Amino acid sequence: MTRTIRIFDTTLRDGEQTAGVNLNSGEKLEIARQLAKLNVEIIEAGFAVASPGDFEAIKTIAQNVRGPAICSLARAVPGDIERAWEAVQAAERPYIHTFIATSDIHMQYKLKKKPEQVIEMAVAAVKLARRYCPEVEFSAEDATRSDWDFLCRIFSETIKAGATVINIPDTVGYTTPEEYGRLIRYIKENTIGIEKAIVSVHCHNDLGMAVANSLEAVRNGADQVEGTINGLGERAGNTALEEVIMGLKTRPDYYQAQTTAVSEEIYRTSVLVSALTGLAVPSNKAIVGANAFAHESGIHQDGILKNRLTYEIMTPQSIGIPSNRLVLGKHSGRHAFKEYLAELGYHLNEADLEKAYERFLEIADRKKEVTDRDLEALIRGELSQVEEAFILEYFHVTSGNKAIPTATVRLKCGEETEQEAACGEGPIEAIYKAIERLTGITAELKEYGIKAVTGGKDALGEVTVKIEEQGRINTGRGVSTDIIEASTRAFINAVNKVAWEKANYQSTPAGDGAEG
Ligand code: KIV
Ligand code: ZN
Repeated sequence: MTRTIRIFDTTLRDGEQTAGVNLNSGEKLEIARQLAKLNVEIIEAGFAVASPGDFEAIKTIAQNVRGPAICSLARAVPGDIERAWEAVQAAERPYIHTFIATSDIHMQYKLKKKPEQVIEMAVAAVKLARRYCPEVEFSAEDATRSDWDFLCRIFSETIKAGATVINIPDTVGYTTPEEYGRLIRYIKENTIGIEKAIVSVHCHNDLGMAVANSLEAVRNGADQVEGTINGLGERAGNTALEEVIMGLKTRPDYYQAQTTAVSEEIYRTSVLVSALTGLAVPSNKAIVGANAFAHESGIHQDGILKNRLTYEIMTPQSIGIPSNRLVLGKHSGRHAFKEYLAELGYHLNEADLEKAYERFLEIADRKKEVTDRDLEALIRGELSQVEEAFILEYFHVTSGNKAIPTATVRLKCGEETEQEAACGEGPIEAIYKAIERLTGITAELKEYGIKAVTGGKDALGEVTVKIEEQGRINTGRGVSTDIIEASTRAFINAVNKVAWEKANYQSTPAGDGAEG
């Protein structure tokens, strides 16, 4: 019999713990909306108690996103659970996820608690969470290094206390498929009341095994798989959900299981997460890498031409990869532009639509052919998700191997227009210094990356920067046929996010809550 496996997405919580990733609440809302289109069962939107920014983002998502359950993480302490409830209560389906560590090493050294005390805390946390919330998940952190009988005891007790889901995390990415499969089966066979609970699995990828472990868990009775888009997460990341979804879709004969995820939304979700986190997807990444459907060798190409099934186990269409069609030209009107974006799955508000249209016209003026990929890069690159304090009006730069690179930049800063000039070791540094003078925001450039959106000498250049200001990282993106302009736009995009954070709240960086 084919079982339906629930997909639990933690891109916005465990995924956001990736080094150098910081998403603002507008960006998190945009990702959550896309996850709802992907039709995941649960969105873990953050860890409410970690920071005011996390709390606000979860609350905004709970108020605005319909379809999936909206979840906040909470340690097994009353303050965390109350804060989690405050954040998720407006959701159509509120969900609290509470956890405590169960391995000897964590209980002894991190929690400094006896196993009995840990059970008491877990039970009290679940009971409190259930007083508020109909769906409560309990996780035994570091389960794969915990005593199996102790796990069965704590799960029996927490199910009795009202947990609707129990989760068995491989927190440090230590287990193997065969061992994890046996653990899942053992827990299912030895936990009292297990038939009343959903069994969830949550794997980390330290030994490159997260997806294999999760799928083997499914074969051994797990009902729910947790993970992130693009396998994001701290260290080596979490289970890549796109791989799990397509694994189940491609091999129903083997797994006897399916999901209700809309696989055609995978590509768009992956691109959005990559754009907003500033983390590029490696070209050989399974499912969503640029080469995942590229056939290079002559023998393979020949086979594909004769019959695609020779070398293709799934189609690019099944994950929603757009064709690289030629789209509108510079004479296309606003209405056609709006319709075209809707066809690509983008529904912009009036202000964003106007901005995107103006930028489209600028690019159509300079580039012979504007394709789907160009349009997507423009949309994902430049819509800021925050109110823009600074808007580029003009820049001019001189550079050369015997000249001192010098830049002049003019920005619209609120109602005023201001201009500054600066020199640098290169044209980009000169521009960035001028922008810092204009905005009063001095940040360290931690990363700078550039890529061409398509082939061709007139291809759009897409620049991603990460800047650090007072210990916070912000990502900026810019797109243009001129790579200096793209670099300028990317920096201004990041600086606008810093300014927005300063104006709204300076939250402290979120911990992973592992201190239990
Ligand atoms: O990896 C882990 O153990 C976690 C828990 C909070 C579920 O992320
Ligand atoms: Zn985790």
